[in-house]
Amino acid sequence: MIRLVLGAVLLSSLFRIVFLQEAESEAQIEERLGKITESLVSYQRCRTDSDCRANSFCYDNDNTRVGLCKCQAGYELLFRNRTDYSCLKLATWGEECEISAQCVDNLGGLATCQNTCGCQEKTYRYPYDGRCYRSVLLDDFCRTDANCILEDGTYAFCTDGQCECNIGLRPSADRKRCVNVRNLGQNCSDDYQCSFIGNSVCREICRCAVGYVVSRNETTCLKAATYFFDSCEENAQCSEFLRDGICNNGNCTCESGYHGFETRCVRTARIGQACSASEQCVPSTELLSVANCTAGVCQCAPGATDSSGRVECSNNTSKVRISSFLFALCMLVYNLFIL
Ligand SMILES: *[C@@H]1O[C@H](CO)[C@@H](O)[C@H](O)[C@H]1NC(C)=O
Ligand SMILES: *[C@@H]1O[C@H](CO)[C@@H](O)[C@H](O)[C@H]1NC(C)=O
Ligand SMILES: *[C@@H]1O[C@H](CO)[C@@H](O)[C@H](O)[C@H]1NC(C)=O
Ligand SMILES: *[C@@H]1O[C@H](CO)[C@@H](O)[C@H](O)[C@H]1NC(C)=O
Ligand SMILES: *[C@@H]1O[C@H](CO)[C@@H](O)[C@H](O)[C@H]1NC(C)=O
Ligand SMILES: *[C@@H]1O[C@H](CO)[C@@H](O)[C@H](O)[C@H]1NC(C)=O
Ligand SMILES: *[C@@H]1O[C@H](CO)[C@@H](O)[C@H](O)[C@H]1NC(C)=O
Repeated sequence: MIRLVLGAVLLSSLFRIVFLQEAESEAQIEERLGKITESLVSYQRCRTDSDCRANSFCYDNDNTRVGLCKCQAGYELLFRNRTDYSCLKLATWGEECEISAQCVDNLGGLATCQNTCGCQEKTYRYPYDGRCYRSVLLDDFCRTDANCILEDGTYAFCTDGQCECNIGLRPSADRKRCVNVRNLGQNCSDDYQCSFIGNSVCREICRCAVGYVVSRNETTCLKAATYFFDSCEENAQCSEFLRDGICNNGNCTCESGYHGFETRCVRTARIGQACSASEQCVPSTELLSVANCTAGVCQCAPGATDSSGRVECSNNTSKVRISSFLFALCMLVYNLFIL
């Protein structure tokens, strides 16, 4: 009886082996394993656990049939192709990782793995959901507030598909900040607040930067002239660096009867006219070699020419000589008369 039972068991297990081995044709194996493959297991066939890579075991196998490698509990099949797969733990911000896929679950599609999970370049972790988002400039297209990170780490609002500042604030020129706009003369806490007025800076209040002067209407900063004949709109531009300069039809000049010498206005004396200083005779230092004030009269140097035409000395020196001769003669007569 016992023999009979044993024999039957032996027979049936023998039958099973034979039957199954016969039944598991390649096509059937494909079908069976194909069903469990889905997304759960790798494509790696195995007979025992040792056929499988780290953190995985041989699944749906037994002594008689092959199975597929499957990740152990707590590990995810984060990558698989026909020849390779990996079972890794999911990781979150700052945790160690081997591939980006470990981070994506927690940080989103813009996550990346560089030893630890982080956000890709030019993307930032939004503190409210912990995921990575592309950052865009103010006024640029956005999907969520998370896209609207500002330079100081705060967020603007994604409104109608655009990053916008809170009410009362305006985007800075570089569109990375929301600024509480200030006008000239108003108190301020940083240069950005003054930046809507060109060339102004915050010095307790918004003021024009060095080299600029405030316009008459106190709304703009105008460039201060550093040379005579620099262009101008208002007198203040011509008097900041040029003593007694005025703005005349768009040029910094001097009152009539005066001319600019270097950076100041001096009374003009033409060639042959009385003078007390050489700068009265010429507009700049280098022209002192063309003409100067000699014996109380503006005189051209012998043979001197001024190709710029700013001093009335030509190569026709006889003219000058004659005029200065006449002048000297007058002076002589005058002196004689006085005496
Ligand atoms: C599978 O992935 C590995 C590692 O990424 C790669 O080296 C290999 O070429 C891939 N094989 C196939 C068939 O795509
Ligand atoms: C500017 O002045 C206003 C009132 O005039 C005051 O409330 C504000 O705190 C001041 N801001 C700064 C940065 O000083
Ligand atoms: C203020 O003056 C500047 C310079 O003259 C001019 O460009 C600007 O238009 C003026 N602004 C107003 C509001 O009058
Ligand atoms: C301003 O100065 C320039 C250069 O010297 C000159 O060409 C121009 O005619 C001047 N404009 C006026 C309005 O005087
Ligand atoms: C003026 O020029 C003459 C020569 O042209 C020179 O002898 C004289 O020293 C100069 N005077 C001054 C004040 O530069
Ligand atoms: C002198 O002036 C005349 C006419 O203005 C010109 O033709 C000549 O080339 C000048 N000579 C010199 C040496 O500058
Ligand atoms: C030179 O000056 C003389 C006398 O003023 C004048 O007659 C002559 O035409 C001038 N010549 C030139 C080339 O300017």
